[in-house]
Amino acid sequence: MQRGNGLQDKRVVVLGGSSGIGLAVAEQAASQGASVIIASSSAERVQKAVESIGGEAQGQAVDVSDERAVATFFSKLGTFDHLVFTAGDNLHLHDLAATDLQQARRAFELRYWAALASVKYGSSHIRKEGSIVLTTGFLHRLRASGAYCELLAASWRVNGSN
Ligand SMILES: NC(=O)c1ccc[n+]([C@@H]2O[C@H](COP(=O)([O-])OP(=O)(O)OC[C@H]3O[C@@H](n4cnc5c(N)ncnc54)[C@H](OP(=O)(O)O)[C@@H]3O)[C@@H](O)[C@H]2O)c1
Repeated sequence: MQRGNGLQDKRVVVLGGSSGIGLAVAEQAASQGASVIIASSSAERVQKAVESIGGEAQGQAVDVSDERAVATFFSKLGTFDHLVFTAGDNLHLHDLAATDLQQARRAFELRYWAALASVKYGSSHIRKEGSIVLTTGFLHRLRASGAYCELLAASWRVNGSN
C-alpha cells in the first residue's frame, strides 16, 4: 500500500488491536505513518500482533472490562490523536424467550461498559482534531415475535459535544 501522510506522526490507540478488525486498523494506520499502540487482554497475542505490525508499533496487555486497568493504561499513555475500540467477544444470541438474562448482561461488559470506560478515561488525552471510533456489531437488533427491540442504545457526551 502507498504511504499517505494523513496519519503521519499521529498516535493511534487500538483497544482490541491484537486480531481481526483492530489488527487490520492498526496495520493500516502504521502503513500510513502513524505510531500505533495496541492493547488486548492477552500479553502473548499483543506481542505477536506488535511483531506482525512492525515499525514503531507498541502494545500492552489491558483487560478493558477492568475499569481500573483502563484508567491506569490511559494515565500512563500521554496524549494521542485517535482512539479505536474494537475489543469484542462472541455474542451468542437465542430467541428472546430462551435468553438467559445473566448471559445477556455479560454481553454488555465489553460492548458497552468497557467502551464507555475507554472513552471516559481516554478522551481527555486526545489532541484537538482527534477522533474516537467505537465498534459494536450489526446484531444491534434482537428479533422478538416480529418486533425489533433495540439492544444497544447510547448517547454519550464527550468534551462538550453531543
Ligand atoms: N468480524 C466481523 O465480521 C464483525 C462484524 C460485525 C461486528 N463485529 C464486532 O466487532 C468487534 C471486533 O470483531 P473482530 O472480528 O475483530 O473480533 P476478534 O478478531 O475476536 O478481535 C477481538 C479483539 O478484542 C480483544 N479482546 C477481547 N476481550 C478483551 C478484553 N477483555 N480486553 C481487551 N481486549 C479484549 C481480543 O484480544 P484478546 O483475546 O487478546 O483480549 C481481540 O484483539 C466485535 O465486537 C465483533 O462482535 C465483527
